[in-house]
This record gives sequence, structure tokens and C-alpha cells, in this order.
Amino acid sequence: MRILVTGGAGFIGANFVTHLLSTAAIERVVVVDALTYAGNLENLAGAHRDPRFRFVKGSILDRGLVEDLLAAEDIGVVAHFAAESHVDRSIRGPEAFIETNVTGTLRVLEAARAHLNARPDKKDSFRFLHVSTDEVFGTLGPTDPKFSEDTPYSPNSPYAASKAASDHLVRAWHETYGLNTLISNCSNNYGPLQFPEKLIPLIIHNALAGKSLPIYGDGQQIRDWLYVGDHCSALATIIARGKPGETYAVGGNSERANLDVVGTICDLLDHHRPRNSGSYRDQIAFVADRPGHDRRYAIDASKLERELGWKPERNFSSGIEATVLWYLNNGEWVNNVTSGAYRDWVAEQYA
Ligand code: NAD
Ligand code: DAU
Repeated sequence: MRILVTGGAGFIGANFVTHLLSTAAIERVVVVDALTYAGNLENLAGAHRDPRFRFVKGSILDRGLVEDLLAAEDIGVVAHFAAESHVDRSIRGPEAFIETNVTGTLRVLEAARAHLNARPDKKDSFRFLHVSTDEVFGTLGPTDPKFSEDTPYSPNSPYAASKAASDHLVRAWHETYGLNTLISNCSNNYGPLQFPEKLIPLIIHNALAGKSLPIYGDGQQIRDWLYVGDHCSALATIIARGKPGETYAVGGNSERANLDVVGTICDLLDHHRPRNSGSYRDQIAFVADRPGHDRRYAIDASKLERELGWKPERNFSSGIEATVLWYLNNGEWVNNVTSGAYRDWVAEQYA
């Protein structure tokens, strides 16, 4: 397989590249990434040592660049991760989300279409995987059935709306142009290399820095947590065996309220890196709620299990302990990504 990974220097993309390069069947992995605040070349340090790997700094908005890479590298699969991904940032500044997530996806789709027009022999075997989110489905009540591939779209944040729009574009490129697309709608990921603006790494980072642990609203919002390595194996499975034109819901079957997640992290830190006195739980602080905050996400991933044989390997308790230990052992990575622009964001968001 010769694959182009957009956004491969970000959290999930970089984990996915590592996952791919651990497989002998992979011939070539090319990453195109604009290296925004969320992208970090250090995330690909291992990949750089592999002769099958190439990194290109560039934007998905540059259709010509993407088209050239598809042709020059004889790409057979696009795994499209590149996006603005943080809900709170989308609330403060929606425009970048429309540009990257909607227009950017359009450009990658158009590059793929042009590439296949020039190489019709490639059209049948080509795959375009669009990595999307469960947030496109909106929010669930406490007893609602979980999100599935049949749930109607109902996005609530600018981020979710931009991802919903990109999903619709991908669907249309399949129906209209016959592009072999695949869409995954995944729940909340966690694990190594996640930028500390998202709940789990932010809490670990703040706890160790002696700062308060901000809980939006009452902390009873529920997310369905999936370890990033399991998301990567789901995506590889969808590329290998998914049916073109289909969507797949991906989740960890691990619904947890935010306050419980934060409490679990505090308990793990109390065990592995105890404070001089008291518990990290003493640092918990309730702050103003996120506008339009979705109350509950939960995924029914039974289609993926039934049709493609995928199941997550890690449960939440083993995944969260591995994650806490990774952050404890990778203080230098955290220091490197929490300089300058990160401090400005935290000052603005949690003022
Ligand atoms: P991330 O913010 O960590 O990484 C995004 C990457 O995209 C960064 O490396 C960034 O530099 C790059 N990028 C941004 N704009 C770009 C552009 N114009 N051109 C090229 N590269 C650009 O995001 P993540 O958490 O790794 O999420 C990756 C994808 O997975 C996103 O599409 C997101 O919507 C989706 N997703 C994320 C989660 C989650 O829990 N994090 C869950 C489901 C789906
Ligand atoms: O569901 C998949 C989505 O999960 C992905 O598509 C997004 O890219 C990803 O960012 C994530 O979105 P969330 O908004 O659910 O993740 P976040 O880590 O920002 O927040 C998780 C929950 O924690 C949410 O209910 C908001 C809450 N929260 C978050 C932060 C940053 C807090 O209570 N305090 C915080 O400081």
C-alpha cells in the first residue's frame, strides 16, 4: 500500500503513521501537514528513520501540491486527518474551521478526482478515507440509543458543523464522481501525543503544574473514550476491508462523565507521582460551561465489528493508566508543545 496521510503530524495522524509503519505490507507513507500549532514534527521522530517515510510541509488548501504528491508518489490510498480539531477554538474563531475542514477537504477530494482522471487504471483500487467525528450527530439524552451510521446529522458547534459539511462533500464525491470513499465517525480519542488543549492531557498537565483542573459546568457531560491505538487499528481495518461509499461508527464502549475521568486521572497521579500533601482532586475547579455543550456522546460500533471484525483491545482503565504514564515519562515533549502560542490560548480560554 502507498498511502498519503494528511495531518499526519497531529495527535491521531502521527499515531496512525506509527501504526502503518509497524506493518510490512506498507510500501510508502507520505505525510502532508501544514504544521499548525497542533502539528509537531517530533511526533514523527520514529517515522523519519524509516526509508518508506516522507514528510512534506504543506497545506491541504494547496490542491496542486496534493495532486502532485498523489501522482509523484503513485498513491493508492488517502487517509484524510488534517483539520482544525478543538471545539473551544471553533467557538472563539469559527472561520479557520470552515477553511481547513470544509474547503481543505474539498481541495483534497478534487486533487484525488483529478489524479484518477489522469490515471483511470487506478480508479477501482483507490480508497479515500475521511476521518470524521461522532460530533456530527449532535447530542444524546441519558437514555437515548447510541449514535450509529443511521443517526441523522445534527451538529451543534462550529467544529461539528464543519466536519458535518466535509462528510457531506465526501459522500457527494462518491455518489457523483464514483470516488471510492470511506467515512469513519469516531468518538473521543485519548493517548500519547495528544495536544494538552483537550481534556485528558490538559488535566494531566495542569495537575503536575499545580494549576487548577477546570471542569466545565457540572462535569456530568458524557464522552465515549477510545484509546488512540484502537482508533488506528479501526482505520486500518476500514481501509483494508471497508465498502466504498459506506460510513463506519467507531467507539470505545467506554462512556464516562467528565468529572469521573478527571477523578480517575487524579487517583492515578496520586499513586504514580504523589503530591507532598493532599490529593490532586483538591485542584478541581468548576468553571463556566462551554456554549452549546453537548451533553452525551456514545457510539454503537456493532457494524464495524459485525462486518469488518474490529473491536477495541484496550478498556478505559488500562488505556488511561498507559496515557498518564506516557505523559509522566515524556515531560520534554509536553514542555516543547506548551510554549508561546499554547500559553496565549490558555490565558484567553481560562481567563
Ligand atoms: P490534531 O489537531 O491533533 O491534528 C491536526 C493536524 O492537522 C495537525 O498536525 C495540523 O498541523 C494539521 N493541519 C491543520 N490544518 C492543516 C492544513 N490546512 N493542511 C495540512 N495540515 C493541516 O487533530 P487530531 O485530534 O489528531 O484529529 C485528527 C482528525 O481526526 C481530525 O479530522 C478530527 O476531526 C478527527 N477526529 C478526532 C477525534 C479526537 O478525539 N481527537 C475523534 C474523532 C475524529
Ligand atoms: O467526539 C469526538 C471529538 O472529541 C473530536 O471530534 C474532537 O476533535 C475532540 O476535540 C473531542 O471533542 P470534545 O469537545 O468532546 O473534547 P475535549 O477534550 O475538548 O472535551 C471533552 C469534554 O471535557 C467535553 O465535555 C468538554 C469538557 N472539558 C474540556 C476542557 C478542555 C472540560 O470540562 N474542561 C476543559 O478544560
